Amino acid sequence: MKIGIYPGSFDPVTKGHLDIIRRSSKMVDVLIVAVLKNNSKSPLFSVEERVSMLKEVTKDISNVQIDSFSGLLVDYARKNNASIIVRGLRAVTDFEYELQMSQTNRIMDSDVDTIFLTTSLEYAYLSSSTVKEVAMYGGDVSKFVPEYVADKINDKIKTLNIS
Ligand code: COA
Repeated sequence: MKIGIYPGSFDPVTKGHLDIIRRSSKMVDVLIVAVLKNNSKSPLFSVEERVSMLKEVTKDISNVQIDSFSGLLVDYARKNNASIIVRGLRAVTDFEYELQMSQTNRIMDSDVDTIFLTTSLEYAYLSSSTVKEVAMYGGDVSKFVPEYVADKINDKIKTLNIS
């Protein structure tokens, strides 16, 4: 059984992430989308909220599971018998960071390999921060995230503005 892990912050999941999830889920028997806990970034959504949004937007993909993790990714991969880490490459600027991460992970655990999927061109410019910034200034984010997530972002921003 080939198990892959797609790790990330997913704050929130975008159409770019979903594109990677859909494509990579066809390459493995089970794809675990794993939300990193204790992220140094200050997130808009809690880990639980991010997991719940991911569950909703991937519910039609039968071999995808959603989870969260803390600590080292290679330890989490080992615990889940995963041999593949999936990452998306949007532009050349992602490359150096991703290369460093994959090489470090491989030195720590030579049984785990990282595969990179080039993000579909229409999403190559996307990041969760951009989406949040557009939403904060009242812009329409429905081109960037699934409708369900767009609603959650708008609800969250309303509660932030009230408090
Ligand atoms: N579509 C849209 N956006 C994408 C994307 C895609 N296909 N791929 C990446 N992004 C964006 C994300 O939205 C995120 O944007 P943001 O910075 O605006 O939030 C950004 O790219 C970073 O990507 P993300 O996938 O969230 O990675 P990360 O750098 O936050 O986390 C981990 C990467 C989780 C894999 C890494 O931190 C990790 O493994 N941590 C565990 C500790 C560990 O093992 N460390 C040793 C590794 S060297």
